[in-house]
Amino acid sequence: MAKTVRIGLMGLGTVGSGLVSLIERNAPIIERRSDVKLEIARALVKDPNKKRPLPDDKVTLNPRDIFDDPSIDIVVEVIGGIEPARMYLLEALKANKNIVTANKAVLAAHGDEILALAGANECQVGFEASVCGGIPIIQALSSGLIANRVDELIGILNGTSNYILTRMSEEECTFDFVLSEAQEKGLAEADPSFDVQGIDAAHKLLILAELTFQVKAQMNEITVEGIDRITPVDIKTAHDFGFVIKPIAIAVRDGDNMDLRVHPALLPKLHPLASVHHEFNAVLVKGDAIGEMIFYGKGAGSLPTASAVLSDIVEIARSDYVVPVWNPQKSIKFAPIESKSRYYLRFPIYDKPGMIGKIATVLGDHGISITHAMALLECNETNKGNVMIVTHASKEQDIRHALADIQKAGTLTETPLAIRMLE
Ligand SMILES: NC(=O)c1ccc[n+]([C@@H]2O[C@H](COP(=O)([O-])OP(=O)(O)OC[C@H]3O[C@@H](n4cnc5c(N)ncnc54)[C@H](OP(=O)(O)O)[C@@H]3O)[C@@H](O)[C@H]2O)c1
Repeated sequence: MAKTVRIGLMGLGTVGSGLVSLIERNAPIIERRSDVKLEIARALVKDPNKKRPLPDDKVTLNPRDIFDDPSIDIVVEVIGGIEPARMYLLEALKANKNIVTANKAVLAAHGDEILALAGANECQVGFEASVCGGIPIIQALSSGLIANRVDELIGILNGTSNYILTRMSEEECTFDFVLSEAQEKGLAEADPSFDVQGIDAAHKLLILAELTFQVKAQMNEITVEGIDRITPVDIKTAHDFGFVIKPIAIAVRDGDNMDLRVHPALLPKLHPLASVHHEFNAVLVKGDAIGEMIFYGKGAGSLPTASAVLSDIVEIARSDYVVPVWNPQKSIKFAPIESKSRYYLRFPIYDKPGMIGKIATVLGDHGISITHAMALLECNETNKGNVMIVTHASKEQDIRHALADIQKAGTLTETPLAIRMLE
């Protein structure tokens, strides 16, 4: 006979409702495949007046109805944010319940505290949905690829940013225009700052880096740059030079040094991540045994995320779930690895004679040489324009100093933009 698993659901929004609907839709398939029968015992919400996809007697405003119910086996946290989510996860573990969460923010900030308590109380923890929604990347890294030494991982981890850059390149329209479109379609939050400033991707990168490299980094040890300064001119110029701009998250290890970065990057059009478009996510893992492997799929949305949550629930219920190990190596230092890369630079200028020459001279003074340069002027009376430059492989520090010197000269209308190019 199938084993019945009773779920205490905390949060009944996009992901919580997706979970309810996926259980209703696919319960017979799941039961046949896993011999596990799933039942939502209770669902915690905040607003008593919203319409819910569950009978009223299953919905509660009191979290103790979940912690204190001995018939509940697994607590699923899909509230989001740090508090009260952290407190609820810890309370569930204190009540000896297994937990599943989709919440990258709480894991990035308090993952070690949560996993330590889970270990002490012999509870299982699933967090597949916290990174890349429906893509089973956590299982792959903690189990399927366990035999590999991984030295590099590159991903497109934020669907909102990828959607915005894709649409900007399809329609040649501005960041603000596409952001409103994304908000209308439910692909961007009303406050999109976590997504477009790279913070959401940085939370996910911290989780992936911990699993892959056993390192514990803090947010202030990661380089984080958003996509909010990219203009249609950048997209078009990158395209003309044979590149696409993508929101990238990278973890690279070099001996005891780790470089964790989130920033936009120019990728050659044939790069495996260059064809990951719209709200899709992907992770490229380089393992010493498997070589390059790509995971690709929907990184968000009600049903894709619920699919990952449900997979954790079933794996835990079958008791063959491998608890991801959170076992940081203390020797690792976090610092940018001083490798060189080519850069795309854009200098917003007033149209005056000799501007390209002046910029090129300062770059040359810092040992930066140029492969391509072009100027574009606005067709109006403002006398403004942009100089775009692609450099030979250069050190990040040299680029930063050169940009500061060019800005000090007072010939720019705005701060210059520098985007790394990945070959
Ligand atoms: N949405 C996605 O595509 C996606 C993808 C991957 C991961 N995630 C993660 O999944 C989690 C949930 O995201 P979501 O999009 O489903 O969020 P959401 O739509 O805003 O839903 C949040 C739910 O939590 C409830 N809630 C909020 N504060 C509460 C409190 N103090 N006490 C009790 N209940 C509370 C809300 O109650 P009311 O309904 O009463 O307002 C709502 O039902 C987040 O950590 C998110 O990062 C989401």
